[in-house]
Amino acid sequence: MFKGEAQMATRANRKLEVVATGLAPRTITIAPLNPVIGAEIGGVDLSRPLSDEQFAEVRAALNAHHVLVFRDQHISREDHKRFGGLFGPLHVHPYHVKDTAPEHARTGPARDPEILVVKADQTSRFVAGEEWHTDVTCDERPPMGSMLYITATPESGGGDTAFASMIRAYEALSPKLQEFLEGLTATHDGAKPYTGGYGQAAPPGGWPKNTHPVVVTHPESGRKTLFVNRGFTTRINELDRKESDALLEFLWRHVETHLEFQCRVRWEPNTLVFWDNRCTQHHAVWDYYPFSRYGERVSIVGERPSL
Ligand code: SIN
Repeated sequence: MFKGEAQMATRANRKLEVVATGLAPRTITIAPLNPVIGAEIGGVDLSRPLSDEQFAEVRAALNAHHVLVFRDQHISREDHKRFGGLFGPLHVHPYHVKDTAPEHARTGPARDPEILVVKADQTSRFVAGEEWHTDVTCDERPPMGSMLYITATPESGGGDTAFASMIRAYEALSPKLQEFLEGLTATHDGAKPYTGGYGQAAPPGGWPKNTHPVVVTHPESGRKTLFVNRGFTTRINELDRKESDALLEFLWRHVETHLEFQCRVRWEPNTLVFWDNRCTQHHAVWDYYPFSRYGERVSIVGERPSL
C-alpha cells in the first residue's frame, strides 16, 4: 500500500467510540434511539411542574443524548412555556419582532411572541426548517434549545424530523482539520433563510447577523462541537470567498450525508421534542404535501457561543 493510500484508509476507518453516559436516573426513563443522538424519555408529565430531581435528570439526559422525545403529552401553552422556562429565558423569534413593528400592530390575531407556530398544509409554499440548520444562529445569543410540540401529524404519514450530532461531526474530522477550524469564525445571517429562503421582507433594522466561532465548546458538557449550518452561515470570515464556499460546502455535506451522526424522530400527535441547539442540527422532512402538520415551538435563549 502506498503512503497516501494508507492515510486514506486510516481516515475512512476512523472509528468513534460510544461514550458511556453514566446516567442512572431515578425519576425518568431513558431509551436511546441510537448510541450517538436521541432518546425517548418516560416518566414525565409535562402538564405538571417537574420536581427538582426530574429537572436535573432531564437536563443530564439532554447533555448525554442531545435530542429528547416525550410522547403522549397533553400540555397547554403555559405548560409548554413553564417547561422551557426551567432552562432559561424564553426566546422571541425574529419573525415576532417583525410582527410587532408599528405597521403590523393592528393586523392579525393577538400572538404570543414566545410561541412559534410551525405548520404546513396544502397552501404552503415552504415549511420551516426544511434546510439542515441550527435554530436562529444569526442571533448574538442563539437559542440553547428548542421544544417543538406537534399536535397534528399528516394523515399520509411522513413529516419526520432528522437530527445530527455536531459533537460527532466534529470528532469525525481529522485532527489537522479540527485544529484549522478552531482558528476560524463565521458569519450567520438571518437574511439567508428568512428573505433568501422564505421571501420575508426584513424588519426595520434588518434581520439579525452575527459572528460565531466555527468550533464552539458546549457550555455544560465541555465537548467541542461544529457550529456552522447551511441555514444561516454565509461566510468563513478569515478565508477568501471561494475558499469559504468550498469549506462550508464540505462541512455541510459532512453533516448531512453521514447517517451515523443522525437520528430521525417519527412524530405522533402530542409528542414534544426538546433538542440542544448548541450541539445539533435538524431538518424537517416535507414529504407529505398536500397533507397538514401542526405544532408550536418554544425556544430558550442560550449563551454567546465560544470556543
Ligand atoms: C424547526 O426547524 O423548528 C422545525 C422542525 C420541524 O418542523 O420538524
